[in-house]
Amino acid sequence: MSKIKISFVCQSCGYVSQKWLGKCPECASWNSFVEEKTTNKPLTSLSTSKPISLDTITSSFYKRIPTGIDEFDRVLGGGIVRGAIILIGGDPGIGKSTLLLQTMSHIGDKDKPVLYVSGEESPEQIHLRAERLNINSSGIVIYPETLVESIIEECLKIRPQCVVIDSIQTVYTQDLVSAPGSVGQIRESASKLMFFGKRQNIPVFIIGHVTKEGAIAGPRVLEHIVDTVLYFEGDSGHSYRILRTIKNRFGSTNEIGIFEMTDKGLDEVKNPSEILLSERPYGVSGSAVVSSMRGTRPLLVEIQALVSPTPFGIPRRTTVGIDQNRTNILLAVIEKRLGLQVGVMDIFINVAGGIKLQEPAVDLGVVSAVISSFKDTPIDADAIFIGEVGLSGEVRAVSQCDVRLNEALKVGFKKAYIPFGNKERLKGIEGIEANGIKRIDEILDIFA
Ligand code: TYD
Ligand code: MG
Repeated sequence: MSKIKISFVCQSCGYVSQKWLGKCPECASWNSFVEEKTTNKPLTSLSTSKPISLDTITSSFYKRIPTGIDEFDRVLGGGIVRGAIILIGGDPGIGKSTLLLQTMSHIGDKDKPVLYVSGEESPEQIHLRAERLNINSSGIVIYPETLVESIIEECLKIRPQCVVIDSIQTVYTQDLVSAPGSVGQIRESASKLMFFGKRQNIPVFIIGHVTKEGAIAGPRVLEHIVDTVLYFEGDSGHSYRILRTIKNRFGSTNEIGIFEMTDKGLDEVKNPSEILLSERPYGVSGSAVVSSMRGTRPLLVEIQALVSPTPFGIPRRTTVGIDQNRTNILLAVIEKRLGLQVGVMDIFINVAGGIKLQEPAVDLGVVSAVISSFKDTPIDADAIFIGEVGLSGEVRAVSQCDVRLNEALKVGFKKAYIPFGNKERLKGIEGIEANGIKRIDEILDIFA
């Protein structure tokens, strides 16, 4: 006979304790334990799988399904891998359901439909949205159900091309007694879907809401289960949305996809650099444009610096979108190698457009923005900066300089300051004046 077991589970990290605790020993959050009952039924294996020799597996088996949306394909690493479990997180109202409904209309057809499981909206509401998006919905089957066992049963009947769970917080399994949305339910339901998806070779998209703290609920437990974690971000004040990879077993985690929310759904943004630079102020000091690689694509991004004398004893250093430690190193290099007294200044650095820059190739841009603000001298609006800066003030070569320059050329930049090492090897780029820089002292000339 199955016995009911009671345990207490931390709702933010999934830590399990036999008694209630006020503070989680794992993630240190307070008051996060909730009682969850489990029946410890003996595990019965439903598996029909057999061991299989690696060389007999053909790659056509893993052929990716294109989503019909290039930006989405890129983020996934070139389409949907069969049997992949993909988690899409984001704030409520950011457009997760819209993105997936649009994608599914490209994938499903009459013979092989996609199953859209909705625990949040009624079929009528989804129909209304599909009408608004003006999509071909003949290949989409809507299933308003929240019990995971029924969902799997239905999937085995229909054998859809792809399953969407909107959202994991509304789904529950009858094995647990706790409420839908609790960490235990999320973990159990997701792992059931995972077993189903992997065994049947059907991709499953799981939509997850973000908690107040900014994490997908039950993040640690889900991140292990799924193959890919994507975040859909953007602020409600702007119509641009960014799809970011946090984890991807089948592609790079550096890729981003950019969309615009219109009155007819999400549009791909094919020229993100132009949009990221569209609100750039002209003739103002402290602004420099860099060309940074995100995955396979170059992005032109504006770095803004504000340098002003500190009213307090200890100067403040704040950065948004760029690593604070890296910036501190660059500021020390400016102070020591250029003799500019930035040590007594408050310094704020911001990457415009909510982009996060991670690679050292943007160093020269940061240095130039800081010098520009320090000297209160604007940089030419048609100049771009590429280069890593070392501790002795040398400018080091970066990868894919020609790709970065071509992007700048496309957007209309006329002048580039690039590492001398790259300049020597550069060929075949016309229309942009490339200045090779060996040391950061040379960059001072443009502020003379
Ligand atoms: P939705 O996909 O429901 O968000 P989520 O599933 O992430 O909660 O998107 C809802 C928002 O998108 C809502 O504020 C309205 C807006 N929207 C548009 O601007 N245009 C559209 O065509 C659609 C369908 C939604
Ligand atoms: Mg939704």
